[in-house]
Amino acid sequence: MITHYFEDKFGHAAQISGFTPGRVNLIGEHTDYNGGMVLPTALELGITVAMSPRKDSTIQIRSDKFEGVAQRDVADSAQEHWSDYITGSIALANTEGLMQGGADIAVETTLPFGAGISSSAAITVCVLKLARDMAGSKLSDQDIAVMARRVENEYIGMPCGIMDQMAVAIAHPGQALALHTDTLDYDLVDLPGDHHMAVIHSGVYRALNEGRYKIRKEECDEIKAALGHDNICQISDSELEALRSLGDTLYRRARHCVTDHRRTVDAVTCLRNHEMEKLGELMNESHISMRDDFEITVPKVDKLVSDALTLGALGARQTGGGFGGCIVACVPKDKVENWSAELFAQNPDAFWVA
Ligand code: GLA
Repeated sequence: MITHYFEDKFGHAAQISGFTPGRVNLIGEHTDYNGGMVLPTALELGITVAMSPRKDSTIQIRSDKFEGVAQRDVADSAQEHWSDYITGSIALANTEGLMQGGADIAVETTLPFGAGISSSAAITVCVLKLARDMAGSKLSDQDIAVMARRVENEYIGMPCGIMDQMAVAIAHPGQALALHTDTLDYDLVDLPGDHHMAVIHSGVYRALNEGRYKIRKEECDEIKAALGHDNICQISDSELEALRSLGDTLYRRARHCVTDHRRTVDAVTCLRNHEMEKLGELMNESHISMRDDFEITVPKVDKLVSDALTLGALGARQTGGGFGGCIVACVPKDKVENWSAELFAQNPDAFWVA
């Protein structure tokens, strides 16, 4: 238990503790910084944090996943260390008046790192929620998500959108968050009881800050500059056609944003109406669009997706930032066991996440 772990490591009781889930995105990829819709769902897996404020500016962090103690300071900048997300969150909590000083922090996690299921958003949101609650502040979960994105964008230097932070701050397991990233309006939609959204790691690891995500973001910035506004996802067919003048690559990047946004809008209707076959088709089209238009898949993931379908998934696609990580597959619950056993036999590096 996190409170025991905290006391064991720091020799005094934690003032507060909390849990934040990881997330998997069902559909709508790289649409969240381009004005479109996303449909992530919260996982049972997540991060538990216990914390006590300190009077000085020191931040001491213990994690069940890393040896020793990370000793940081509120004034530290990012150092490409696992403790950066927590340090950045405490620093922002100070800037925003939620805290004055550092903290002792203990972390336990069931979320694998680098799997594309938002361990970084979960830790950031969790720490900021605890800082809010300690301060007795009335900031909403949505406000916390926006702050958590600032930690990623401004402190870590990762130019991500708002999907992960909103998903882990707001959704609960069993629910999908149908989020309009242009307005932050959202609905929570229940997942069907008879199908499982299986999350399978491909065995290909990637770090979002390694640069390829940033290149896509910069390509989208070029498209936005040509459009004269920031909403690529919701342009009309004729506006999309006009973007052919930017060359084939940028045209295909824009086409992915537009079509994946539209697929996500349709997917929300499918979920509500329990049209699982159609939802599966949309997931498959999304994967093809990520592979051919946005070019963020890798051959090993393409094979995993294709095997997942051959073995009986209704739909399957790479999920998250891309270039490896996890796939998500919609599988009838009574088939999951055989389906996954076969899938792992054919893809020995792949493993079950959720
Ligand atoms: C990462 C980012 C998100 C989003 C996805 C791609 O998870 O953190 O903001 O852009 O990639 O959909």
